Amino acid sequence: MSKQVILTGLRANNDLTLGNYFGAMRPIIDMAKTKAGEFQVNMFIPDLHSFTTPVDHAKLQEQILHNAVLFAAAGLPLDNPDIHLYRQSYVSAHSEATIILNNFVGMGEMERMTQYKDKSSKLDTERISVGLFDYPVLMAADILLYGATYVPVGDDQTQHLEITRDIAERINSRFGDIFTIPVAVKDQHEFFNKDQGLRIMDLQDPTKKMSKSDDSGKGVIFLGDNPEESYKKVMSATTDDKASVNYDRENQPGITNLLDILALLRGADVEEVIREFTGVERYGDFKKVVASEMRDFLMDFQARVDNVDMGALETKMVESEVAMSKQANETLVRLQKAVGLR
Ligand code: TYM
Repeated sequence: MSKQVILTGLRANNDLTLGNYFGAMRPIIDMAKTKAGEFQVNMFIPDLHSFTTPVDHAKLQEQILHNAVLFAAAGLPLDNPDIHLYRQSYVSAHSEATIILNNFVGMGEMERMTQYKDKSSKLDTERISVGLFDYPVLMAADILLYGATYVPVGDDQTQHLEITRDIAERINSRFGDIFTIPVAVKDQHEFFNKDQGLRIMDLQDPTKKMSKSDDSGKGVIFLGDNPEESYKKVMSATTDDKASVNYDRENQPGITNLLDILALLRGADVEEVIREFTGVERYGDFKKVVASEMRDFLMDFQARVDNVDMGALETKMVESEVAMSKQANETLVRLQKAVGLR
């Protein structure tokens, strides 16, 4: 029997953020390190998804490669045949499956996607692209073509995972056993040892998600930030006037976000960090701890970025693209046959 698949993708519109790192990159790389052998691990760059938010086309190539470098720097093993690293657009089955699946998804369902609603509400109708609208169907194809069971994503992608399951179930109930259905979100959390989806918040506005497409970048930690700059960003994070550190997402979102971030940086349980800092009155003292651990984390990470073996990385991508095209095409042909195209 073939191995179960763990899969995730991170877009390359901009440098990746701390949210991307802890929301998706770290969980899949930890799995790749500990569970390859037992599982197949697919980490890919959804380059066709890049266009759904503003992108500098002249820099896209560079950014796509840079993403791959970041994955390697974060520890993705390149020498394991169960681990695959590829660019979405190099596996044409993703696009072909999307065109078919589009016909089994309703406009209403897509209109209800929170991310679509958020992003489109900021644009004139003429500027809302069909690509933005259709983005979750392409994401479903990314997942279903490999029969992925586990898909580590941040909280903002949970709804897209749910619709992927809906699409798979719909196709299967109509045409038989075409797709493997990813496990339900609750079980995904259990598999990745979490009680809920992760959402790192913006340091300046802790009521909104830290996002790589944020214009000012002041509340966003990018993996390529100058470490000293990251120290300053943490020190100037928005907090509150309660003068007591507490883990209280509702009333103290800034402090709570910093507690979450510190736990992630330390690889510690958040409860441990909460015990250490609850009640601290001088926010400056608490922030200094977070800021210096952030600086150390980025210094260490960036040193690893400089040491990535580019030759090995490119070889790995090309090999994975060949192997994954073969695997994805098998599912695509099954789908094509089911709908009467073959
Ligand atoms: P993208 O590129 O916007 O983000 C990549 C991953 O990072 C997570 N993330 C966060 N997690 C916690 N806190 C944050 N502040 C934060 N910001 C981002 C996202 O949830 C995501 O997991 N559609 C996807 C890419 C994609 C994909 C796929 C993922 C395309 N096809 C198939 C999984 C499977 C996206 O735009 O993520």
